[in-house]
Amino acid sequence: MSQPLDLAALQASPAPASFKDAWQARLERWYAHPGLYRWSLRNPLTRWLTRRRTRQLFDLMAGFVHSQVLLGCVRLDLFRALHQAPANLDELARRTGLAPAVLQRLLLSAVALGLLEHRSHARYGLGPLGVPLAQHEGIAQMIEHNHLLYQDMQDPLQFLNNAWTGGMAEYWPYAHDKTPVHLPASEVDKFTRYSQLMAASQGFVVQEILSSYFFDEHRCVLDVGAGKGRFVSELAAHAPHLQFKMFDLPPVLALAREGLQAKGLTDRVALHPGSFLDDPLPEGADLITLVRVAHDHPDAVVRQILQKAHAALPVGGVLLLAEPMAQPEEEAGQAGASVDAYFHFYLLAMGAGRLRTPQELQTMMQEAGFTHVEQVPNAMPIHARILVGRKSQCLP
Ligand SMILES: C[S@@+](CC[C@H](N)C(=O)[O-])C[C@H]1O[C@@H](n2cnc3c(N)ncnc32)[C@H](O)[C@@H]1O
Repeated sequence: MSQPLDLAALQASPAPASFKDAWQARLERWYAHPGLYRWSLRNPLTRWLTRRRTRQLFDLMAGFVHSQVLLGCVRLDLFRALHQAPANLDELARRTGLAPAVLQRLLLSAVALGLLEHRSHARYGLGPLGVPLAQHEGIAQMIEHNHLLYQDMQDPLQFLNNAWTGGMAEYWPYAHDKTPVHLPASEVDKFTRYSQLMAASQGFVVQEILSSYFFDEHRCVLDVGAGKGRFVSELAAHAPHLQFKMFDLPPVLALAREGLQAKGLTDRVALHPGSFLDDPLPEGADLITLVRVAHDHPDAVVRQILQKAHAALPVGGVLLLAEPMAQPEEEAGQAGASVDAYFHFYLLAMGAGRLRTPQELQTMMQEAGFTHVEQVPNAMPIHARILVGRKSQCLP
């Protein structure tokens, strides 16, 4: 691969290497024993484990089908329609224009996956996993957007050898090139498209931040990579004492202006168009936020952003960094690790960024001069984990 990609730091294991290696090799030999599968199914104490492993492997194999069922339901707008009222097969066939016999395969698959469920009188209604899809437009938009990623990944080895030639790389203009000052119309369209998607999908991340961090001590917040300003708008309603600055590329802030006006926020929000690759960050804020920004960029750029944030803050100021992060070693075995696989590939297809562990980002923040760096516990780390660090003194 010719692309300049960073390597992830190896996570340190608490157990001595020789002991851990020997234990893992013994387990592997045991799992590979030809009689183990039949023996463990006969034994009531181990049957559940073998069933669970088999099921997990089957789900991995079937994952593509699952996501296509999801996309099919989104494209037919089934979640919103069934949220309004359950419907039977014939009604749904009429509405979607699909033949009942094929539509039924989709509906039964969606029931099997918990997206839909059977209701009385042979009707279909929303299942537990379908409810959020009917309520949050941003999820449906991400599912549609993922189609681009899955097209790029159709042949995984070709993708790994040439990850930046697909639709995803094209979708994210800033992840590869320096942004030119004067953009052709086609490029402006790209900024509009991704900024809209980001605004639609940011809701869950914003909720995590607002419900986990207290903003009382702050006076002015600078949101770097602010997009169309959804975080700033929601924080403005949450903490009416705050003033704001937004920093993003000029075409993105041009899109943000109208929305801020409509929300009556122009007096509280100052726009600072620029690029953190070339420009310093504006001073005057005592809290700088970086929401879903670092993971888009290679280590050298992240270090640059963190140093600029440190330089722009007053002594006592705080940096808050929130984004999906890799599951740390101490959480190994807990649910959620498979989310990492998605982000590793998403960020590879997008450009030169990567999914980092909280520990890696904490170290980068400390290297940029921040002290008291810690993780703020939050309820849904799958949406984002949150780190904060303080500027306690100016760097020499
Ligand atoms: C993944 S989006 C996140 C937007 C928003 N914070 C959110 O969570 O929805 C990353 C943002 O960083 C901005 N960005 C990318 N490169 C930039 C640069 N060189 N200077 C300033 N902003 C940049 C993009 O325009 C985009 O709005």
